[in-house]
Amino acid sequence: MKFFIDTANLNEIKEAYDLGVLDGVTTNPSLMAKEGIKGLDNIKAHYKAICDIVDNNVSAEVIATDFDAIIKEGKELAKIDDKIVVKVPMIKDGVKAIKKFTSEGIRTNCTLVFSAGQAILAAKAGASYVSPFIGRLDDISQDGLELISQIRLIYDNYAYDTEILAASVRHTMHLIQCAEIGSDVVTCPLNVITALLKHPLTDSGLEKFLADHKKVNG
Ligand code: E4P
Repeated sequence: MKFFIDTANLNEIKEAYDLGVLDGVTTNPSLMAKEGIKGLDNIKAHYKAICDIVDNNVSAEVIATDFDAIIKEGKELAKIDDKIVVKVPMIKDGVKAIKKFTSEGIRTNCTLVFSAGQAILAAKAGASYVSPFIGRLDDISQDGLELISQIRLIYDNYAYDTEILAASVRHTMHLIQCAEIGSDVVTCPLNVITALLKHPLTDSGLEKFLADHKKVNG
């Protein structure tokens, strides 16, 4: 399962990359705004800075919502670096744009997906990634992980190439259960990735090993 980090913060991206387990980055307009990135030139420069840290797969989201504007903006984003994946919302013009980008060899991430039907459309349009938001579904008492299972079954039935990118991942259990289900990718904040490291028996076990070594070796 690929690990993407869900942030536009360069320090967090570096920290996750240095851990050696990072396969990509997802951003969205809210995450870019959180870092105070504004204005087209600054936005493009920031995406370039992210691309310079990681090896591949940097999702950059379009703001446009009508077909022509999505195509124009998406092409501008794709020009920044080969690592860019154009993130397009699950709306009618978005689906049409994904089809067009796919035919031109531009990779896409279909975002704001909350149902199996939307995931089928994204795959049929040829999206490289589909992003079901599991945490936001949980927030409204719908089972986000159940949606990942449903999409896994459907995509396997038809051998769709689209990769399932579980998004809005809030904690380690989300991530572990996505791995059990067979999600291709999870995107999550840095604290979810680093929380995977932790176990009290690891800490106490290491403490004992080091103490025993010290007793004999000084
Ligand atoms: C990533 O592609 C999504 O934009 C992100 O995971 C949404 O997460 P949130 O629901 O925590 O905002």
